[in-house]
Amino acid sequence: MTAPPDALWLQWLLGALQAGQAALLQVLHAVGLVPTLHGQPAWPWASRLAGDTLLFDLGQARRLALTLGLLVLALLVAAVGLLWRRRRVWLLAVAGLLPLLAPWPQWEAVRVAATPASFHVSPTGFHADTIVRGHQLYRQLCVDCHGADGRGHGPLAAQQTVWPPNLAGPLLWRRADGDLFWHVMHGMHDARSGQASMPAFAGRLSPDDAWALIDAMKAQAAGQMLRQTGQWLQPVRLPAFAVRCAGASGRTSSTALQGQRLRVIAPGAGPLPTPDPRVVTVALAPASSTPDVPRSEAADCQALQPDAWRALALIAGDTDNPDALAATQFIVDREGWLRARATPGAADWQEDDLVCRAASDPAPSVAASVTRLPAADGLGSLIARMDAEPVRYVKGGLVH
Ligand code: HEC
Repeated sequence: MTAPPDALWLQWLLGALQAGQAALLQVLHAVGLVPTLHGQPAWPWASRLAGDTLLFDLGQARRLALTLGLLVLALLVAAVGLLWRRRRVWLLAVAGLLPLLAPWPQWEAVRVAATPASFHVSPTGFHADTIVRGHQLYRQLCVDCHGADGRGHGPLAAQQTVWPPNLAGPLLWRRADGDLFWHVMHGMHDARSGQASMPAFAGRLSPDDAWALIDAMKAQAAGQMLRQTGQWLQPVRLPAFAVRCAGASGRTSSTALQGQRLRVIAPGAGPLPTPDPRVVTVALAPASSTPDVPRSEAADCQALQPDAWRALALIAGDTDNPDALAATQFIVDREGWLRARATPGAADWQEDDLVCRAASDPAPSVAASVTRLPAADGLGSLIARMDAEPVRYVKGGLVH
C-alpha cells in the first residue's frame, strides 16, 4: 500500500483543495455558469489543482498552504474593511498587499489536466450487483484490447496506436474516478500523434454502465494484484449487498454493519467456523444458487444475493472461476475496508493473511503488542495489528 504522507497538515491541505474546488463547481452550477453533463456539473477548465505532485514535493506544498492561508486572511481583512468605515482604506490596502507577499507555488507543480467530469462522483456505492454487471460489460466490450485479466494483452492490443495500459495495477487508483469515467465515455487521444487511442463508448453505454465498469475494473485489479503480489496494494471496500441478520426483521445492507468487524465467509463443504464474539459472521450465498434463500444458520448474517459472492471472487482474483472462492474467509475492519483473507484449508488466521496493510512492517509498538498475545489466538493477533494500522491511504487528499 502506498505510504501515506505523515504530515497531517498535508492531508488536510489536499482535502481542502479537493473540497474547495468541488464547492466552487457547485456554486458555479447553482448560478447557472456551468452546464450539467452526465447528470453532474461539468468542470469548465482544462486544468485543476491536484495533490498528486505535492505528495512528493513538500516545498511546493508548503508554499501553497501559506499562499492559501494568506489569501483567506486577505479576504477576512477585506471583509472587515468593508464594514469598518474609518479604517477602510488601510484595511483594503493591506488586503490587497497580502497576496503579493504570498510565496505562490509553481503552477506546474499544482496543476494537472482536467476533464469536464474530473469532479464527478460515482453514484454506485460500490454495490455487488453493479460490480457484477460492470464485469459482464467489460467482457463484452473491453477484453479485446485490455485482456481478460486487464493487463492489456487482448487480441486487438497490438493493432492500437498506443498499447492499452495495465489496468490490473495501481493505475485506476491514481486517476480521479471522474476522469476514468470521462475516458470510458469519450475515449482518449495519443498525446503525440493526436490520433484516437482508446475508443469512446458514450453511444453504447449509459453513465450508470460506465460507473459500473469502473467498479468492476477496480475489483478485478485488486484481485489481480492480490494474485501477483499476495497483497491488496490498494485498499478495497467490502462491496455493498443485501443481508438478513439474526434477530433483525427484514433485510438490510452490508454497509449498515459498518462500525463492527466482519468475518465474511464463502461457505465450503465443511461446517462454518464457530461463532466468535469479536467479529460479526456474514455467510455469502453460493454464486450458483437462487437468491433469497437463507442457508447458513450458524452465521450472524446471511447474504441474500449471489452477486456478493461473484463480486468477492473478482476481488480475490478468482475472476474466471467464482466457485474457487468456496471456504475462503475475509476480515473487514470497522471502517468497511477488506483487510485479511484466509484461503481454503487454513487452520487458523496467520499474520500473512493481513493482505491490506498500512505499512510493510509493523511499528515496534505494534509488533510488541502482537507477540504478547497467546500464539494460539491467530484472529486476536490479526485484529490487534489491523486496528493498530488503520487504512490511511490518500490519493490527492482523498481516501479511496
Ligand atoms: C480498441 C481497443 C480498446 C477497447 C475496445 C477499449 N479500450 Fe480502453 N484503452 C485502449 C487504449 C489504447 C488505451 C490507452 C489510451 C491512451 O493512453 O492514450 C486505453 C485506456 C483505457 C483506460 C485508462 C484511462 C486512463 O485514464 O488512463 C481505461 C480505464 C480504459 N481504457 C477502459 C476501457 C473500458 C472500460 C473499455 C470497455 C468499455 C475499454 N477500455 C475498451 C484501448 C481500448
